[in-house]
Amino acid sequence: MISLFPERGAPVLFEAELDSTNTRLKAMAAYAEPGTVIAAGRQTGGRGRLGRSFASPSGGVYLSMLLAPAADMRACLTLTPTAAVAVRRALKKVCGLGADIKWPNDLQFGGKKICGILTESVTAGGSFKLIIGIGVNLNTGMDELPLELHDTACSVYSVTGRYTPQEAVIRAIVDELDSAYAHWVVNSHWALDDYRAACASLGHRVQRGSVCGEAVAITDDFALLIRTDAGELIPVSSGEILYA
Ligand code: BTN
Repeated sequence: MISLFPERGAPVLFEAELDSTNTRLKAMAAYAEPGTVIAAGRQTGGRGRLGRSFASPSGGVYLSMLLAPAADMRACLTLTPTAAVAVRRALKKVCGLGADIKWPNDLQFGGKKICGILTESVTAGGSFKLIIGIGVNLNTGMDELPLELHDTACSVYSVTGRYTPQEAVIRAIVDELDSAYAHWVVNSHWALDDYRAACASLGHRVQRGSVCGEAVAITDDFALLIRTDAGELIPVSSGEILYA
């Protein structure tokens, strides 16, 4: 692995190909310094939420950051949406792309997914740690993404028509994550206003399991508040919504 940005406190390690940056960082979690980042040029076994795989061809940015928060599990639930806000800021800064957030933590453009985030917890070296894994379709050509994703995914390149160096995006994401985490440690709701402003799910008719209705608000805990046809307000705090 090569070391990027050696002036940063914790290491940022890059490998051209890995199975999964989350898996690799998990294996190192007992001894790696908090803040350690592993990035890969492509992944052969990229993992997504809800047990899915995450297509990770070359041209994308795939990275994972190790965190050792002192907060309880409940407060940590706000970390993934905080990371979504951080990545959104990074893409705005480096690529000029104003992505939306699809609740809970996908970034999308024009209704198509451009970035996914998978947060996993691990108990290593006797303490609780989190791994935040981020996958961005950056310079990915549409022909490099599986056919079944063509209707639901896009890449920064497919939207802007511009190639952005991978390393610049890794740097920007790491910087924004570092900054967001420093804020989060002081105030776990730090990202809430930005999240609400960027969340494109609001106003949509959505379905989450048996709950169907209009997405009307993001609660202070980043849950999605759904108003059912019967007028009931139901907060949904995990899983995936479908746009109905
Ligand atoms: C999702 O949208 O379902 C989450 C996708 C998360 C993908 C990233 S890529 C870097 C890290 N390593 C993985 O195996 N998964 C995450």
